[in-house]
Amino acid sequence: MKILLGITGGIAAYKACELARMLVRGGHQVRACITDAGSRFITPLTLATLTGEPCFGANPEYHEWRPNPKVEHVDLAKWADLIAVVPATADIMGKTANGLADDLLSTVLLAARGQVLWAPAMNHAMWKHPSVQKNLATLRGYGHAVVDPAVGFLAEGESGIGRLAELEDIFEAIQIAVSPKIPAFTGKRVLVTAGPTREDLDPVRTLTNRSSGTMGLEIARAFRYAGAEVHLVIGGDLRVPWGLEATRVRSAQDMLEACEKMWSAMDGLVAAAAVADQRPEHYAVEKVKKSEGPENLVLVRTPDVLATLASEKRSGQWVVGFAAESENHVANAQAKLVKKGLDAILVNDISQGKGFGNQGNSLTPVTSKGASAVMGPLPKDRLAQAVVHWLGDYFGG
Ligand code: CTP
Repeated sequence: MKILLGITGGIAAYKACELARMLVRGGHQVRACITDAGSRFITPLTLATLTGEPCFGANPEYHEWRPNPKVEHVDLAKWADLIAVVPATADIMGKTANGLADDLLSTVLLAARGQVLWAPAMNHAMWKHPSVQKNLATLRGYGHAVVDPAVGFLAEGESGIGRLAELEDIFEAIQIAVSPKIPAFTGKRVLVTAGPTREDLDPVRTLTNRSSGTMGLEIARAFRYAGAEVHLVIGGDLRVPWGLEATRVRSAQDMLEACEKMWSAMDGLVAAAAVADQRPEHYAVEKVKKSEGPENLVLVRTPDVLATLASEKRSGQWVVGFAAESENHVANAQAKLVKKGLDAILVNDISQGKGFGNQGNSLTPVTSKGASAVMGPLPKDRLAQAVVHWLGDYFGG
């Protein structure tokens, strides 16, 4: 996609260099447009070098007021699929919110045809000022996306809200904005379970499994990219990416309760969590002391989150499960599909240690009509996108 990176005058401007690199590495065509104030923090040469494109705006070689028959602000606005202003000062947001344009970046912003995304960074008192908040509300009202600043240490030595959001969050917000949408999922509400569950024996010991949660998390991201509203119910410790609502859970029972609360408002479920099938019969409030001789641990079954939600599904809702199989993949998955009342099941081949951790993975979609072609081996992010495309075709007819 074509991304115009607008850079304004704040100390966080130096971080825009790394974002430019990330976007180029992510396969985007990136052009930078820097304001005069921005160019006091970083140079147009840095941006031109990182993007492989001329840097527009306050550039001695490519300056904003050079005679140009192309009408540069309109040309750039038409070129960009998305304009991301990173960092955005109170000044540039105030200008755009109020229809003011006195330099190249502000004129491009008023002439924008594609999407606009703001990543503000400023002192916490400035951020909280009613005029800044009013301008932000105006920009949101225009349909612009905003990646709110983070709380932390600010350049002037104070602490509070105002730091530029993490670059990976800004990158994620850009990806969400520019990714092609899948009609079957646009505006739909999708519930995704992910990660391992933990069944505690006592305050320090727990029963869990080797799932990292990466696959479920990537499925959630891929749905978000496709245009769905996603709620992730996640066990384990993986960081939840920007743009996903999430509920953090511990045990299978917690996961069921969290899912039950929102299931009726959802259009679909993908259960990618590695839910513990058993839990200790008793939880010891105090740490259990070791004893001599053999010790017994009595386990009881946990609720099946997927089967429970499938049994409660109303018309129009769809349910997709995962199956981790080390043999007879398709036959076992089909039996699971019928037993749990699913619309589709994605079979994960875990023979020879495959399927866990961060390496490439393969999945075979199985429905009542039989098995489809295997997807993969692919890295989990790309595999998740392939899965969501496949589901989009399947449910979209
Ligand atoms: N699942 C669940 N709640 C459980 C157990 C499983 O929601 N208590 C979901 C998983 O998220 C996954 C699917 O059910 O979507 C896996 O089904 P399961 O029967 O547990 O398959 P396996 O883990 O392959 O187990 P088995 O060893 O019984 O084949």
